[in-house]
Amino acid sequence: MSKFYDVIIVGSGIAGLSFALKVSESGYRVAIITKKNSAESNTNYAQGGIAAVTSQTDDVEMHVADTLDAGDGLCDEGAVREILKDGSVSIDELIKRGVDFSQLGDGRVSLGKEGGHSKRRILHVRDMTGKAIEQALVNAIEISENVDVLEHYFAVELITSQKIVKKGQALPNTNRVLGLYALDTQRGVVETFRTGAVLMATGGIGQIYQYTTNPFIATGDGIAMAYRAGVEVQNMEFIQFHPTAFYSKDSSDRFLISEAVRGEGAILRNLNGEAFMCKYDERKDLAPRDIVARAIDYEMKETGARHVWLDTRGIAHKELLDRFPNIYAYCDSRGISLEKDMIPVVPAAHYLCGGVKTNLNSETSLPGLYACGEVACTGLHGANRLASNSLLEAVVMANRGACAVGKYLEQNISDETDLPPWKDGDVRDSDERIVLLHNWDEVKRTMWDYVGIVRTTKRLERARNRIQTLDREINEYYWNFKVDESLLELRNMISVAALVIDCALQRKESRGLHYVLDYVDKLDDAVNTMTRKY
Ligand code: FAD
Ligand code: SIN
Repeated sequence: MSKFYDVIIVGSGIAGLSFALKVSESGYRVAIITKKNSAESNTNYAQGGIAAVTSQTDDVEMHVADTLDAGDGLCDEGAVREILKDGSVSIDELIKRGVDFSQLGDGRVSLGKEGGHSKRRILHVRDMTGKAIEQALVNAIEISENVDVLEHYFAVELITSQKIVKKGQALPNTNRVLGLYALDTQRGVVETFRTGAVLMATGGIGQIYQYTTNPFIATGDGIAMAYRAGVEVQNMEFIQFHPTAFYSKDSSDRFLISEAVRGEGAILRNLNGEAFMCKYDERKDLAPRDIVARAIDYEMKETGARHVWLDTRGIAHKELLDRFPNIYAYCDSRGISLEKDMIPVVPAAHYLCGGVKTNLNSETSLPGLYACGEVACTGLHGANRLASNSLLEAVVMANRGACAVGKYLEQNISDETDLPPWKDGDVRDSDERIVLLHNWDEVKRTMWDYVGIVRTTKRLERARNRIQTLDREINEYYWNFKVDESLLELRNMISVAALVIDCALQRKESRGLHYVLDYVDKLDDAVNTMTRKY
């Protein structure tokens, strides 16, 4: 027998939790399905902060202009304006939910600066903004009345009206969401959930790359599930590489060194000690991320270095400790004193600008399926996201989606027929299965080597061939096995990697984060001209 909820939310980061709070306030019964414990999410690791216009000397049109500039001509200007205008309301809402943003000595809110912003407009909780937001929202959910949180449940597949058509029956005129299958990872059983609407809030895809700032949950499950259900996905080629992740030669772990550190005066230097960003952009170390990451990549390739340096020695000790206690402690644990030493940094995969296409009500192309947060593509980020715009987008779009889902539920009565149970394969373990799991590393290496910061058509084609082979293998074996988390994640990662490559090959130009040497113009800017040497 299927379990029923009015709304099922997949994911418990800022997007899923914000949406759940709004929808439950309207009296709907909500389940949040989340594959680890509630707090484990990209949100929990966000450092720099949340961008919003809150000061008298700033205005929304300036924020819009900065976002459009970073997005390199591909933002949807209407969406940018609509989303950013709700910035200060969303901040007030987070404060009401219990987020205690850092303040200056005189009681005014402390505003940080990051790449591409013409003003100080990043609200933050020291360098642990995400943790503070996540905790406040989890606490609010705990005391809300209509929400069940199902931890350690892994959403496997959407159930749509077209998918459950029996042999000989005609396809229904309109397809819509009826429910989903989710694996209780502690019991190893796939359960069937019936629902009026589903929100995908599964976050990003950083784990498809060998080096990423993202935690292990970021395997692109929501995009893969939506795509399998025939939902439109777009702009997957725009992978943002954060310029400054901590470099360590013995681990693929990439702890983030927030851009806000450069906002307070830290400087990038190559291994010869030269501050190189002035060669690439007049905004120097605070140019948009695509430019800074490419410049670092270029400097490293020019000199054969494995990293560059981030020099924090010009920032006062008290400021380093007060503003960046988490980064300070991490570097200290690695034997680096921010007052005396420089931090070894490299770019790492960080954020997906594309995703499941939505309108400004968080509606996807499949009735009853909503998406918001990093999994979604609203048109805000275009070809390159402006720093700290993603937490804001998640809150604004969760609120808009929650209003829209209420109207949808009023007009679409849930079908009460029971849904078919999940059919599991019967193989539990075999040699093939172990071999298959080695494919995990191959996906990550392939994406890192061939679909990185600087691309060529030849490298993209090579990546496509490899990923196609892995895709064939997993689909051949998938149905034989009793599903578990790692098999499901691998399947999703392969699907998402294939989407990134396909979109990258379809875009016959070099733009924003999609930098392809084949299309770099001879008269292009300084960075482009230099990087043509690759
Ligand atoms: P997430 O917070 O990633 O949550 C996704 C949720 O979905 C998780 O609970 C996960 O467990 C769950 N999930 C995934 N798949 C499944 C499945 N199959 N079944 C069940 N549950 C599933 N952005 C900013 O604006 N400012 C910053 O300062 C900033 N700093 C960042 C620092 C780091 C280190 C990182 C990694 C990102 C940072 N970002 C920042 C980006 C930002 O944190 C994310 O884009 C944002 O938090 C995404 O929120 P979300 O709710 O969409 O997804
Ligand atoms: C950072 O703190 O540098 C990350 C900000 C972001 O990803 O928006």
